[in-house]
Amino acid sequence: MIRNVLCIGAGYVGGPTMALIADRCPEVNVTVADINTQKIGQWNSDLLPVFEPGLDAVVKRARGRNLFFTELTPQSIAAAELIFICVNTPTKQYGEGAGMAADLQYWEKSARTILAHAKPGTVVVEKSTVPVRTAEAISRILNFERKGPHFQVLSNPEFLAEGSAVRDLEQPDRVLIGSELTEEGLAAARKLGWLYEHWVPKENILYTSVWSSELSKLTANAFLAQRVSSINAISALCEKTNADVTEISRAIGTDARIGPRFLEAGIGFGGSCFRKDILNLAYICGQFGLSEVGNYWMSVVRMNDYQISRFVKEILDRLFNTVADKKLAVFGFSFKPETNDTRDSPAIQVCTRLLQEQARLAISDPRALDNARKDLAGLPGDASSRVAYEPNPYLAAEGAHAIVLLTHWKDYKALDYERIYRSMQKPAFVFDGRNALDHERLFDLGFNVVPIGKSPRLHF
Ligand SMILES: NC(=O)c1ccc[n+]([C@@H]2O[C@H](COP(=O)([O-])OP(=O)(O)OC[C@H]3O[C@@H](n4cnc5c(N)ncnc54)[C@H](O)[C@@H]3O)[C@@H](O)[C@H]2O)c1
Repeated sequence: MIRNVLCIGAGYVGGPTMALIADRCPEVNVTVADINTQKIGQWNSDLLPVFEPGLDAVVKRARGRNLFFTELTPQSIAAAELIFICVNTPTKQYGEGAGMAADLQYWEKSARTILAHAKPGTVVVEKSTVPVRTAEAISRILNFERKGPHFQVLSNPEFLAEGSAVRDLEQPDRVLIGSELTEEGLAAARKLGWLYEHWVPKENILYTSVWSSELSKLTANAFLAQRVSSINAISALCEKTNADVTEISRAIGTDARIGPRFLEAGIGFGGSCFRKDILNLAYICGQFGLSEVGNYWMSVVRMNDYQISRFVKEILDRLFNTVADKKLAVFGFSFKPETNDTRDSPAIQVCTRLLQEQARLAISDPRALDNARKDLAGLPGDASSRVAYEPNPYLAAEGAHAIVLLTHWKDYKALDYERIYRSMQKPAFVFDGRNALDHERLFDLGFNVVPIGKSPRLHF
């Protein structure tokens, strides 16, 4: 039914999603284009720009057969019957709505390029997360003064989670397709549905209006982030009352109405989406005069910031009120395990603040050190000179006063902490920002252990 698909944007969403479509729809040619030529080169190499478990195999099966990574050309736009837009929609940093609204410049540029070269009748699919009613704006641009068949604009938000992107794409809880509720709109939605039906059961493909689809994505991220902030709020109270937040998570998570996921207390959420999408949601609420609703969602972001500040303060307090010139080993920098993505990782804030306190950091991470380097480049004063990037966690911990665990990579659970303890300054501390390690064992080895939302285990 569709022979040629184009995707504009070869990032964390565009690359893996299109690779999976190509893998599951061998009769469809899938071209993925990006203005970043270096990234295109990486997608065509053995070292993909995105690390995701299982992704290499999917890309290798389809690449060169019916999956192509290229620069964006007029020909590829003209050949496409269906065009996904997967470009970034970061928080706007300038002008009206700065710090809150989504920056849609990349989105609009893509739409205008499509307008210049696409065949009439091409279906345009917004996969980027966008404010409600963006499709309407894009549709206006695409259909301005155009006679004959319209461009149909669909909303098809992506719900994959980084770190499990391939599994999420292979077995999505649902695929959401929003369209105009006209005959043409519904026909376009069915075309897109046909692609997904190659591997997703029909009953898991939901059809809605465009607006519901757009708002569902923002709502989903706001709800997930809200759960994280809610349990983190309780973690602060646990620390004051000697309750244990892990026990509370288990106790409430077994309630079928609540469910167990996203109830792990820690240093807070990160990633390119949660904060950005909530800020955007709150901004939209403000635009519609719903300031109470906007404030409600903003409190989720404020709680996240508070949790990070609390964690840094705890490190300072426990390390005798100063970390100046002390070596601290940071375990994990990506915003979650199994990804090299560090965008809005809490690690950026934690490390920046520790550096402001004049600490010396040895940062370790199995996949994210290149990105960490970029994130911490250009810090004021001599801060950058006090950071070492050390892939080997044993070397990172050598001579350190404390381990600060920020990302719960499985690798960190399996380390020989007896050896690590011997190599560290005493008293040696572990600040477990993800409650990921075996605290009793660490305590028995001699560590002072400071978790989140439960009593610390101290030797003095
Ligand atoms: N990362 C996630 O987990 C996730 C999950 C669901 C939805 N989303 C949403 O998907 C969208 C993309 O996110 P991402 O993480 O893939 O971003 P990303 O920054 O990794 O990728 C976006 C890509 O678009 C390219 N681009 C920008 N303008 C372009 C243009 N005019 N022509 C061609 N290429 C262009 C950029 O060079 C970049 O490579 C965002 O709206 C995001 O909110 C992200």
